[in-house]
Amino acid sequence: MKNLKKLILVGLAITVFASCGSKDKESASNDASTDKKNTSLVSDGVLDLGTSADFPPYEFYDDNNKIVGIDAEIAEAVGKKLGMEVKIQDMEFANIIASIESGKLDGGISGLSKTPEREKNVNFSDTYAKSVQKVLVKKDSGYKSPEDLKGKKIGTQLGTTGEAVSKDEYGEENVQSFNKNSDAVVALNSGKIDAVVLDEQTVKKFAEANEGLEVLEKSLADDEYAIALDKKNDKLLEEVNKAIKELKEDGTIDKIVNKYIESK
Ligand code: ARG
Repeated sequence: MKNLKKLILVGLAITVFASCGSKDKESASNDASTDKKNTSLVSDGVLDLGTSADFPPYEFYDDNNKIVGIDAEIAEAVGKKLGMEVKIQDMEFANIIASIESGKLDGGISGLSKTPEREKNVNFSDTYAKSVQKVLVKKDSGYKSPEDLKGKKIGTQLGTTGEAVSKDEYGEENVQSFNKNSDAVVALNSGKIDAVVLDEQTVKKFAEANEGLEVLEKSLADDEYAIALDKKNDKLLEEVNKAIKELKEDGTIDKIVNKYIESK
């Protein structure tokens, strides 16, 4: 009897697992008796979000090869409020918005700055964090201010606001973009580029992890982070905003942020 129960359970688990592979599983999600998922916002009841997990403390891999960080935990908390499972998928940052537009993803949570440009293609939730663009250099380089880097080689992550502000500030010809932030930092360490421009908290983490690097004090531009969502799904936007509001009010977001950033 016990064994039979086990067998049924295993069978169920496999079925559930198998059905998670595709986004078109209308039939499975319609079966309300076995599936308590909220399917009113996205048809499969799973909130598929894209991220670029090279961005500590917002998204990075822990020692168990799991994507963790502020964004991962906020996504989880939002999912809980919505009664939805959240799946975070690691990808190149530059592909996140396009993947939402094409329907491969329901949204993205990736330290994504809300910009008028991006707002043409996706819905943005209310913002949940502020940031500024900072400059990372080698300690022994002698650079003291962002102005000292005119005409020098600047590394950025492809498709980011850091890339845009660097092109404005230093000229397109001086900006080299990388798919992953970590690659830009490697290029800086090996002297291939003179600086990396990226978001404040992440730049701090990279400086902490790399003996020879430091962050210049003066910042280049302001950013505010929000969750990007499918532009065709206003109901989802509404519900995500409601969840964010509640999570701000009950202190959950502060608690998550404080876990990853000392003395906020
Ligand atoms: N805030 C910047 C932007 O939206 C950079 C975000 C980079 N995020 C990441 N996970 N690598 O463009």
